[in-house]
Amino acid sequence: MKYRMKPFTSLRLMVCALAAIATPALAQEVNVYSSRHYDSDDALYAEFTAETGITVNRIEAKADELIARMAAEGANSPADVFIAVDVGRMTRAEEAGVLQPFKSDLIESRIPDHMQHPDNLWFGISQRARLIFYSKDRVKNPPQTYEELADPKWKGAICIRSSSNVYNQSLLASLIESDGEAAARDWAAGVVANMARAPQGGDTDQLRGLVSGECDVAVANHYYFLRGFSDEVDGLTPGIDGIGWVWPNQEGRGAHLNLATAAMAAHAPHPDAALALLEFFTGDFAQKEFARQNNEYTAVPGVGDDASTARLGDFKADTTTDMASYSRNSAAAQAIFNQVGWN
Ligand code: FE2
Repeated sequence: MKYRMKPFTSLRLMVCALAAIATPALAQEVNVYSSRHYDSDDALYAEFTAETGITVNRIEAKADELIARMAAEGANSPADVFIAVDVGRMTRAEEAGVLQPFKSDLIESRIPDHMQHPDNLWFGISQRARLIFYSKDRVKNPPQTYEELADPKWKGAICIRSSSNVYNQSLLASLIESDGEAAARDWAAGVVANMARAPQGGDTDQLRGLVSGECDVAVANHYYFLRGFSDEVDGLTPGIDGIGWVWPNQEGRGAHLNLATAAMAAHAPHPDAALALLEFFTGDFAQKEFARQNNEYTAVPGVGDDASTARLGDFKADTTTDMASYSRNSAAAQAIFNQVGWN
């Protein structure tokens, strides 16, 4: 039997088709390339979908792999949003041409100026502090500034990871910005001369060195230390009560903080959805979640830091050094590391 469409059916189809055009939000999605991933990301993105109707697709890998992938994909890249855990990584993304500027009054008003790229290529979503830790038994007067780590009195005392680590690259980049390139080179050479051992392992291994007695002073991001309390960390938790910490440069510019950062991909196929997600990241819900996931500090002031950070006490953060300088000075930092033999 030949099928004949009833007029009312075709009209209904037409209405449906028009409705679909008029409400594209129903089919909206956003593709996130992220090197920051936690088990509770599902809850974070579910909240965004509940608020906006936009589905989030995630690809998780190391930042350098994601940058290479976006570069290889070129104009066909499905990436809308890129997330990295250090400002230094964003330089590499910037240099690879895989980011584009975005304009958002909300982001500009929520995120402090020094945590925003000057041309709106990225902004900070959470903060991590690089602290000086020490053995309470063996060190009575620990260094109070990053600069003091280069003092010859700490010869053979200091554990700090390799120069290929982006946290150290950003720290040196900040010293170039605040103290100048010549002083930063002298500092790096001084730290190399004071190392207790050749750089090895991650930040947790520097803290383990305090427990084992191999190091008297160590440099690490704050959350690796806090994780020793919340989790049972081999070689750290059993001796963690013997570790003290110093918030550096409190009499001067303040402690060096780094940022987890978010950006819009250069060829974002869904730029509106990407902007909606970037703005969501600055909201109270996402800010609290970012902080809670990794015992970090929020980027947006006044939201309330994670309770776990209370242990570390109040501190003065360096808010005068432009964080974009961490990426701007990263090539100079790498050159200094090579010159002074910081492996
Ligand atoms: Fe880390």
